[in-house]
Amino acid sequence: MTSRRNVLFLIGGGTVVAASAVGGFIAMNGPSTAAREPWRRAGQYDEFRRRALSYALLAPNPHNRQPWKVRLEGDDALTLYCDLARRLPVTDPYDRQIVIGCGAFLELLSIAAAEDGYRAEIVPFPEGEAPASLDSRPVARVRFIPDEARPDPLFAHILARRSNKETYEPRDVPEPEMESLLGAGRVFGLAAGGAVSGPLVEQLRDLTGKAQYLEMTTPKPMQESVDLMRIGASEVAANPDGIELEGPLFAFGKLAGVINRRTLADPASEAFRQGVAMYEELARSARAFGWLTNANAGRSDQIDAGRSYVRLNLKATELGLAVHPWSQSLQEYPEMADLYREVHGLVGGGQRVQMLFRVGYARPVAPTPRWGLESHLV
Ligand SMILES: Cc1cc2nc3c(=O)[nH]c(=O)nc-3n(C[C@H](O)[C@H](O)[C@H](O)COP(=O)(O)O)c2cc1C
Repeated sequence: MTSRRNVLFLIGGGTVVAASAVGGFIAMNGPSTAAREPWRRAGQYDEFRRRALSYALLAPNPHNRQPWKVRLEGDDALTLYCDLARRLPVTDPYDRQIVIGCGAFLELLSIAAAEDGYRAEIVPFPEGEAPASLDSRPVARVRFIPDEARPDPLFAHILARRSNKETYEPRDVPEPEMESLLGAGRVFGLAAGGAVSGPLVEQLRDLTGKAQYLEMTTPKPMQESVDLMRIGASEVAANPDGIELEGPLFAFGKLAGVINRRTLADPASEAFRQGVAMYEELARSARAFGWLTNANAGRSDQIDAGRSYVRLNLKATELGLAVHPWSQSLQEYPEMADLYREVHGLVGGGQRVQMLFRVGYARPVAPTPRWGLESHLV
């Protein structure tokens, strides 16, 4: 979730620890390797649907909830469901973002199946859809048709794709790179826009920073995030999802009693104050912004937004660009209404902004935790 450099702030307070002790502590408190096992197992399955699914579950998705439940059917089909307990009712009351994460999953499934020569025929919400919030009906039915697909060059980037939440380098994104990135998102009817310099970038930096602060200081949405924080490698290994806070400094902060779910939710605490400072730095470091819009006429538009976004994210990997979705201002809870209106006024062009993300250059980050394939099969 956050860089070691940023985390350094969190301890603060003048605590002094002997250098030798620090070395041992650091060595013993790295990120959970077990929680990254699915990244190593991707592609290592004999049956083609499982092989494709092992890539699909690496998709970007809100708060890394991984709400995907899959029933394999016959020998050439599957149905995707949403695990309704893995939604984000406060910050995503209409399940729009959760469905975007399902779209990203389906697109990676399709790209991976094509690698084996199968075309994935995807029918979204085959039994109808509930616009207000998801119900137990399927999110998609997928049939695989042999010998009808050509490999997709973006397949090569699935294992290296990341949401890069680091501080970005003070280095501009050249227009042609940005155009190439946005071009990858102009699929499935999505419009993609971006800005690499000028007042609009400045306004978006300001707006995303404000939206982040508003979310952190509004108790219910903040608590929703705090409840999903996994503090330290053992918590991450036990629940390889949500918001991972790993590394020696989090482990030390936990041990010292300054980092726990109570302090992280308490605006008066040092941990909270440092969290706010960290996000301000991230917002300030944004070099460019991109956005994806469509009519949001129904659930299929949200699936399409996820398919488009993951293609753009894969393209970013190819181009050596860092991207980081920054969704607070797009969220549909009452306290966010003013910033929601503002961001739509700035970049919506009369459409729904489905994804807003900062773009830049940053040092590479490790993959995020994942549940294994077996836990998604019903
Ligand atoms: C619809 C959607 C919204 C997201 N919004 C945010 C966000 O507001 N802030 C953030 O840090 N990451 C956001 N993300 C990124 C997820 O946190 C990330 O995909 C997830 O933690 C898994 O990490 P990975 O993409 O590096 O595999 C979003 C992703 C999606 C698909």
